[in-house]
Amino acid sequence: MSARRGEPATPGSRARARVTLTFTVNGRRRRVTVPAMKRLLDVLREDCALPGTKEGCGEGECGACTVMIEGRAVNSCLVPAVQADGATILTVEGLARGRGLSALQEAFVTMGAAQCGICTPGILLSAHELLRRTRGRVPGDAEVREALAGNLCRCTGYQKIVDAVRAAARGGARGAARDGARPARSTRRATASRR
Ligand code: FES
Ligand code: FES
Repeated sequence: MSARRGEPATPGSRARARVTLTFTVNGRRRRVTVPAMKRLLDVLREDCALPGTKEGCGEGECGACTVMIEGRAVNSCLVPAVQADGATILTVEGLARGRGLSALQEAFVTMGAAQCGICTPGILLSAHELLRRTRGRVPGDAEVREALAGNLCRCTGYQKIVDAVRAAARGGARGAARDGARPARSTRRATASRR
């Protein structure tokens, strides 16, 4: 990280001072020069051209902006860019496998767990963190709900999301359908990569 010289040393100017940061996002090395206190959420969307991460409340309450830093889910609206220097970051764009969706994303599509899609990127990242932790074990309903407690959804009523996460853990939505869960007809993409 390197701050530009010549700025007066006042608290306000320190916040405005531009810094050059390097970090890895979705496996790709990035170098950006941004105001030191710019939110990671904005750096990802505006400086890294990764609009999949969404802003809801902007106050750390809704989880729409969830990304993973060093394998841990965080609210990127609360993270100053300087804290990302040198970090390894995963956003929703990094979940996809090449041009295809991950099993988790596929389950969200098939099970109708993504409706308006604003909460979906954040929920996918929180669910991804849970499934990494459970390492092949299928988490129970309560465990999924607890893992997603920081992610708010106004559309789905949560059960379809819980079903999709458990379906992905069981080996995908087809497995869930065999187990009796009812897939939805929605074909909306779970990546929600629209602005
Ligand atoms: S936008 Fe970050 S928690 Fe709501
Ligand atoms: S799908 Fe609309 S807020 Fe969750």
